[in-house]
Amino acid sequence: SDRIQDQVKEHFQFKLDHVDKNCKARAGTITTPHGVIETPVFMPVGTHGAIKALQPKVLEEMDTKIILSNTYHLHMTPGSDLIKKAGGLHKFMNWPRPILTDSGGFQVFSLQKKSIKEEGAEFADQKGKKILLSPETSITIQQNLGSDIMMAFDECIPYPATREYTKTSMDRTHRWLDRCIETWTNPKQALFGIIQGSTYNDLRKECIDELVKRDLPGYAIGGVSVGEGAEWMEKIVSYAAPLMPENKPRYAMGIGNPEDLFMLWENGIDMSDCIIPTKFARGGTLFTSRGKIRIRHRNYRRDFYPIDHSCPCYTCTNFTRAYLKHLFDSNEILGQVLATTHNIQFYKGLAEGARKAILEDRFLDYKKEFFANYQKDDS
Ligand code: GUN
Ligand code: ZN
Repeated sequence: SDRIQDQVKEHFQFKLDHVDKNCKARAGTITTPHGVIETPVFMPVGTHGAIKALQPKVLEEMDTKIILSNTYHLHMTPGSDLIKKAGGLHKFMNWPRPILTDSGGFQVFSLQKKSIKEEGAEFADQKGKKILLSPETSITIQQNLGSDIMMAFDECIPYPATREYTKTSMDRTHRWLDRCIETWTNPKQALFGIIQGSTYNDLRKECIDELVKRDLPGYAIGGVSVGEGAEWMEKIVSYAAPLMPENKPRYAMGIGNPEDLFMLWENGIDMSDCIIPTKFARGGTLFTSRGKIRIRHRNYRRDFYPIDHSCPCYTCTNFTRAYLKHLFDSNEILGQVLATTHNIQFYKGLAEGARKAILEDRFLDYKKEFFANYQKDDS
């Protein structure tokens, strides 16, 4: 067949390895042109083509399998034509492993000044120049970047949204999806569709049906973590995830803190991304099996233990809490580097532990043990 949806199957595959006998949690394997990803997987965010404060070689040493980058930011600076000239984003940033690019649909819609039309989303850059991001430009940019997974151009609406607006926006997002598919020509890049529908179950269901008709390589839950709160988020995910095709990767966009990850995995989500581990690290908040710690706190002044005694990362095997506190107090960049290294390792460890537990049908015990140790706050 000459359908792009069939051509991509030669380069991108998902295998469902196991579903936990006691819940919906799943372990799978995604194969892409730049490598294999075992799921569940957490994707660190490298918005501008860099994971803030980390060298790609450190990420590779930690065995990070896939990172996320952003169409919108790379379009603004340095532009995707330049990155294409450099040989694509993998080569430009010297990251040889899989990359997922978000479409810009989320970033544009968090801007104050924008106008959404059938054609796309129009906004002004820093110099006031009008820029249109559309299904065609988003996919063209993502194909210039050469990511392994491209996201469809969608409208991510805030919470709360009226049913009427949600329906209007969702229908337009489906028309945009068809234009994305029309523009998609590279079978070495997989296009994922994004489920919208806000807090309305019937609209979420309608959206999933529309996406599945397009037979895409993967599907994502979008329009969550937009101010609806943890309870709504769980309601949406637990409703939508079981309706998503079993034989395709399921991705939840922009979620979240460690507690949220367990909720996603328990509901059968395979992939997620969030700025939390990297952003919190740079602000001096570190994740441990006992909960978060704020490293600037005076308690750590004479604390010569590692951040987390059971963590295998470079930070925990070589430095003390007292030293990290000192680095943050002195505004040394190394503090942010070491904190980011640790938080990325922490999230990676959680996902790997989940996969191992799922393969042994003990995800619920794994979750129970995590919550028994993890304090919501350390203060
Ligand atoms: N990131 C977090 N949520 C979303 C969403 O709904 N759409 C897109 N494109 N990106 C997101
Ligand atoms: Zn560590």
